[in-house]
Amino acid sequence: MVGTRRLLPMALNSHPSVRVLPGSRCTLPLVVWSLFGFIAMFYFYSTLHRHSDLENQIRLNHLAMMRELEEVEEESFHFPTLRGKRSPRAFKRRGPRKPPSVIDEFLDESSDLRSFFFPDHKTAIDPRQDDDVNKYLYPGRIWLDTEGNPIQAHGGGLLFDERRETFYWYGENKDGLTYHAHQKGAARVDIIGVSCYSSKDLWTWTNEGVVLPGDETNITHDLHKLNVLERPKVLYNDKTDKFVMWMHIDDVNYTKASVGVAVSESPTGPFEYLYSKRPHGFESRDMTVFKDDDGKAYLIYSSEDNSELHISPLTDDYLDVTNEMRRILVGQHREAPALFKYQGTYYMITSGCTGWAPNRALAHAAESIMGPWETMGNPCVGGNKIFRMTTFFSQSTYVVPLPGLPGSFVFMADRWNPSELRDSRYVWLPLRVGGVADEPLEYNFGFPLWSRVSVYWHRRWRLPDGWMNAQT
Ligand SMILES: *[C@@H]1O[C@H](CO)[C@@H](O)[C@H](O)[C@H]1NC(C)=O
Ligand SMILES: *[C@@H]1O[C@H](CO)[C@@H](O)[C@H](O)[C@H]1NC(C)=O
Repeated sequence: MVGTRRLLPMALNSHPSVRVLPGSRCTLPLVVWSLFGFIAMFYFYSTLHRHSDLENQIRLNHLAMMRELEEVEEESFHFPTLRGKRSPRAFKRRGPRKPPSVIDEFLDESSDLRSFFFPDHKTAIDPRQDDDVNKYLYPGRIWLDTEGNPIQAHGGGLLFDERRETFYWYGENKDGLTYHAHQKGAARVDIIGVSCYSSKDLWTWTNEGVVLPGDETNITHDLHKLNVLERPKVLYNDKTDKFVMWMHIDDVNYTKASVGVAVSESPTGPFEYLYSKRPHGFESRDMTVFKDDDGKAYLIYSSEDNSELHISPLTDDYLDVTNEMRRILVGQHREAPALFKYQGTYYMITSGCTGWAPNRALAHAAESIMGPWETMGNPCVGGNKIFRMTTFFSQSTYVVPLPGLPGSFVFMADRWNPSELRDSRYVWLPLRVGGVADEPLEYNFGFPLWSRVSVYWHRRWRLPDGWMNAQT
């Protein structure tokens, strides 16, 4: 909330000017008018953001809880041995001239830095052994489910089922062999299917199995294992009481560029695969779906060779797109969209298009979901410059609203491991909307139009105490 957070610095700033008055040549009326002005402003702000006592209490607790998460945590890593020990493979790829880049090292499975980005099994987050009270998240570490297996839910998204008061995490199960279909093909894993995990606390995840399996034998089927299924997202439709899954469907060379739809009676499946299509006849690669407060849902997809995004409302049953479509972020070459909404404004985080390699995230905002969408800048805070320029070596996939903590979200991203895709990691970090954008591209008479979106780096963090109970 911009107003609340601005109030304190304003009050402090105005203080000294009052105190120096005795020594200055200011007249009494000026002092009175200054004070009056300040009180009027204070009144203006407090009426603007009038809340009941309960809401105020929740907000105060909330602010205290969030302060810890907003602490800027620096990150450093060293390269002392890098030059001598560069692997021959990396050397070959880069050639003798090009200086070593951290991204090259990150992608090189034999790099010394490997264990920094992909810590080994000994450090895994393990709900069977770790302190169940603290429930710390460690972005980038292996994350085990309640049976002790690494969670397989890549490019995923969350669904909160209100009736069951349970979160469901859907994502690609990539627990197979990583290979290249041909020399120029991207690293891939055959389709295994969409995994689902359930949790009450966003930390302890129970494997609910593969809720939409790939197809082993039918070569003409969209889900045949040699095709591509990415970024599955599930919405609950209140009218039909069904769970609808949208996903990116492609062939091995990414030329099909379609969306697929599946439906289920239950959040834990089984999902029945319905069909795939090119929405409005356009290519659709990275995509997501978003359900608004009014129950209307939208498909957002990268199109025209990933140079722009398209947004389209879904039909009432969520099983298809409507005819309406708008082009957004035209010419900006963004993918991996993740949408959320706060205080009537729509926000989106996207990544650039560099395959499995990480790149800089951008935040965007819009008053109307159909656009125009404006680009605000890089939301990443903390870590170090390279961390911020690579989205902490990860790529956005989803933003989870925390219903009890207005303005607070969990940013979900994938740290892809193209040499061993099944070992790709999850980078979950606190995301806040609030404060003034420090890198705003759009100004309105000198005032930034949008609140800042910040994703704070933490090596270790946890959700604030009682975040679930804070729900109103
Ligand atoms: C194979 O998949 C296609 C496309 O989904 C379908 O029309 C056909 O019936 C399937 N064949 C078998 C044997 O299941
Ligand atoms: C994918 O591309 C390769 C190389 O161009 C080609 O040999 C192969 O037939 C293509 N596969 C499909 C399914 O389009």
